[in-house]
Amino acid sequence: MGKNIVLIGFMGTGKSTVGMRLAERLHLQFVDMDREIERITGMSISQLFRKHGETRFRSEEQLMAQKLGRCSNLVIATGGGVVLHPDNVAALKKNGIFVGLEASPEVIMSRVSRKKGNRPLLSKNTTIEDIEKMLAAREEYYACADIRVDTTGQELNKVVNEIITQVRRISYRRKNHPDLRV
Ligand code: S3P
Repeated sequence: MGKNIVLIGFMGTGKSTVGMRLAERLHLQFVDMDREIERITGMSISQLFRKHGETRFRSEEQLMAQKLGRCSNLVIATGGGVVLHPDNVAALKKNGIFVGLEASPEVIMSRVSRKKGNRPLLSKNTTIEDIEKMLAAREEYYACADIRVDTTGQELNKVVNEIITQVRRISYRRKNHPDLRV
């Protein structure tokens, strides 16, 4: 059973863009958790937050994490808050390698500025300092990544190559040294 590659990281670190290209390169199916939640609920993430609140969104997210954790051979782009719930991490780790994407607060700010309307946790008044604070508060959660890749100033293909190299390395180590926590 082929492991899933699970992309985690803060909003605007490139999970969806990188995930799509990575899946293409590895001939794997790509799943974007937020798009799946939108498909199933028939609402955009913003609508879901507005009409039913964050709690409802988080429970949809949890169901989706459980479901995807039972799948294999997927590249999964998670929402930035998936790792906040330990059950989500446990479910997705069962058959997944976690790739943590990172970016500087400035790069995150410029990427999310284009699509703030789709991100209920950010508003047009969100500042770099707000992003820095959120990043600091979440740092310990993103630390569950098996591999970490900084996307700041990197070309998409370079990021994808780096992930492929590291995933292969880790898969090799896990296969040959199953007792090591690598
Ligand atoms: C969230 C990130 C969003 C989306 C939701 C909550 C978060 O996904 O799941 O708005 O808590 O960081 P992206 O990371 O794809 O923007």
